[in-house]
Amino acid sequence: MDVMQAIRHRRSVRDYEPEAPSREDIEALIDAAIAAPTAANRQFWSFSVISDRALLDRMSREAKAYMTTSKPLDLPEHLYEKLADPAFHVFYHAPVLILISAKKNAPWGAEDCALAAQNIMLAALASNLGTCWIGLCQPFLDAPQGRALIGLADDEAPVAPIIVGRPASIAPPTPRKPPNIRWIS
Ligand SMILES: Cc1cc2nc3c(=O)[nH]c(=O)nc-3n(C[C@H](O)[C@H](O)[C@H](O)COP(=O)(O)O)c2cc1C
Repeated sequence: MDVMQAIRHRRSVRDYEPEAPSREDIEALIDAAIAAPTAANRQFWSFSVISDRALLDRMSREAKAYMTTSKPLDLPEHLYEKLADPAFHVFYHAPVLILISAKKNAPWGAEDCALAAQNIMLAALASNLGTCWIGLCQPFLDAPQGRALIGLADDEAPVAPIIVGRPASIAPPTPRKPPNIRWIS
């Protein structure tokens, strides 16, 4: 698959087969992640790979409770309604979560992690794996109880939680608005 095909065909996947990708599959994705550029080539990132299903279920429950009680983000009301729905699983029952964390207060740490995340999402597609960035769990992962649950070090800031697995189904593409381009010549 060439790079333009991968960019055009990537979708956020929200329906997964239960079997987890192999450790080699996940290592290949992280290899792709660390090929991303980083500011001053400092590579101040770390990767947590969570495939314990009971832990993912607990994280989903606790992230939903945290989001609906603390409302840490200015989100549209329908998203808070979704978070309050007992049937909603923030990770869509995906078998693996890769969390990319930046070194706290590192300049451009979040940008570095976002670039690594995009590499993971494109590399996953080339291996017939699906992914979705789960921003809805991020405030919880940065809260003391979320940090403790996954053992984040004090100097790590969670940036990019990406679920990974074999897609059970893939939704049609979401439409894009025309880009707002200002040509200056
Ligand atoms: C920073 C960020 C946070 C996101 N958080 C969520 C999320 O919590 N749950 C979810 O289902 N999708 C989430 N997404 C996926 C977007 O909804 C998706 O990328 C967008 O609708 C476009 O669809 P596509 O990725 O299939 O092209 C997130 C994407 C980004 C970049």
